[in-house]
Amino acid sequence: MCGIVGYIGKREAYPIILEGLKRLEYRGYDSAGIALYDDSEIKLSKTKGKVADLEAKAATEISTNGTLGIGHTRWATHGIPNDINSHPHYSNSGNLVIIHNGIIENYESLKKELLKRGYTFKSDTDTEVLINLIEDVKINENVKLGKAVQIALNQVVGAYAIAVFDKKKPNEIVVAKLGSPLAIGIGDEEYFIASDASPFLEYTKKAIYLEDEEMAVISRKKGIKIRKIKNDALVDPYIQELQINLEQIEKGGYEHFMLKEIHEQPNAIKDTYRGRLRAKEGIIKMSGIDDNLERILNANRIIVVACGTSWHAGLVSEYIFENLARIPVEVEYASEFRYRNPVITEKDVVIAISQSGETADTLAAIKLAKSKGAFVFGVCNVVGSTISRETHAGAYTHAGPEIGVASTKAFTTQITVLTLIALKLAKEKGTISNSQFHMQLQELELIPDKVKKALKYDEHIKMVASIYKDAKNCLYLGRGYNFPVALEGALKLKEISYIHAEGYPAAEMKHGPIALIDEQMPVFVIATKKGHYEKVVSNIQEIKSRSGKIIGIVTEGDQDVKYIADHVIEIPETLESLTPLLTTIPLQLLSYHIAVMLGRNVDQPRNLAKSVTVE
Ligand code: AGP
Repeated sequence: MCGIVGYIGKREAYPIILEGLKRLEYRGYDSAGIALYDDSEIKLSKTKGKVADLEAKAATEISTNGTLGIGHTRWATHGIPNDINSHPHYSNSGNLVIIHNGIIENYESLKKELLKRGYTFKSDTDTEVLINLIEDVKINENVKLGKAVQIALNQVVGAYAIAVFDKKKPNEIVVAKLGSPLAIGIGDEEYFIASDASPFLEYTKKAIYLEDEEMAVISRKKGIKIRKIKNDALVDPYIQELQINLEQIEKGGYEHFMLKEIHEQPNAIKDTYRGRLRAKEGIIKMSGIDDNLERILNANRIIVVACGTSWHAGLVSEYIFENLARIPVEVEYASEFRYRNPVITEKDVVIAISQSGETADTLAAIKLAKSKGAFVFGVCNVVGSTISRETHAGAYTHAGPEIGVASTKAFTTQITVLTLIALKLAKEKGTISNSQFHMQLQELELIPDKVKKALKYDEHIKMVASIYKDAKNCLYLGRGYNFPVALEGALKLKEISYIHAEGYPAAEMKHGPIALIDEQMPVFVIATKKGHYEKVVSNIQEIKSRSGKIIGIVTEGDQDVKYIADHVIEIPETLESLTPLLTTIPLQLLSYHIAVMLGRNVDQPRNLAKSVTVE
């Protein structure tokens, strides 16, 4: 997700936009840019790096006058972070300029058409395609900017929050929204545009939040006209009086970034499969895989290298790849793999998983694998990160910036990418039937709404957390696909509440850990209907008979575990291979609430860093 800011009114736009971008850096910070209308020209400056770098560069590059402008701080999704790919983007004529937060899924086909019409492109971004599509419509249909934006957006598939202006018409600015947030601040003969209210809250508390598929022409003289993009219907603006402060806005009204990011998961998962998963047509489109399909299909095995939560996502992928695509998988801690002189050949495919794309051990493991001839595929969340550039190919998660040190939406979006890859390979290898394939795709499309349902049990989860917040030790148990989720749940609790916790395969209890059981030991057991349910129920009974405390993560409507366990937390039913995307949600919330009740620094736990770039 990126941050967009715009201004049209009677004040100097530059300082308003620059400060506004600083307030939005939590939304993305790999490049920044600004475009001002000044003396019949567009003055534009942009740079890789943070808003502070833009400030330094703009001061030397452009006159910062003008009462109309737009600015952008980027979280790259298409095109690596560099000056050229930074926003704003010009149209070919240089008359129009745009900023955009979102993903245009069909930008490649639109670009092909525009190239045929003689348009040229400087950047690799989907956004530059959009501004030239708008220009092409404006010229060919001979319409005003607002109409051109509307016609162009009806050809677009994807998500956007955009602001556009024409240097020939400097008394208006056009905005539009679908899937990405866009707020309009209403001042006295002045208007502010932003991804959220933080850039304009000090100037006005009056705001309009555009709804999806709405656009607005904002004019100095005529005020705001809001229309439906699809049918041009006029919309009565609903002006809100905002009652929130700056800090609340950055965290989206949540107390911590971690809680915000837990609740962002439905959208993060949807953004991650957007443009890749076409359930109706039964297609998975992933250029990183498509371009290297032969090499990957002929691999002897897949070796996953990762650390921490990313390693847990890799362990989930072992079950998915082996069960669906029948490809042997080994999951390695990168820190061990890099030093144990592993046997690696050209017939190996290595998948490196990293949210930050900067983890030193994972980077070292990649270099080792490459030096031995393996094909290395990256799954990262930060576009243009070191790991994403070091691997031969890759697929990004589109989780957006993950600020909380405890990884949450990165985990579920990593699993989403890995599931898409495994399904694609299984289809190519014919190891699953067409009906199975379609069923998996359709169910994957339902996961964001099912995650939303799982999040709705938050109050109940908070109650359970209050009962066990003073435990000194906890156990997390799961089987099959949910064994890695048990490990992940234990890590979440450890790293933010500082309570000791261990994850185990449920069947492993009788090989030692059951000696730990007493009434002081809460045991969180993932006991979903799909996946060795009866065996897990008997594991629960073994623990209960030794007066252990059981908190069961169960499928909605479960009628067995609820009569044995001390507490149950429900999740919606789904396919066994997709349960990790849901069972992890209550465990994330449990650890969050326990840590808050214990007064821990949830977003920056002691001794930890968001990205471990040291060995
Ligand atoms: C998980 O909550 C931790 N933040 C940590 O284990 C993290 O997953 C690990 O350091 C790997 O980071 P990466 O995904 O950025 O490589």
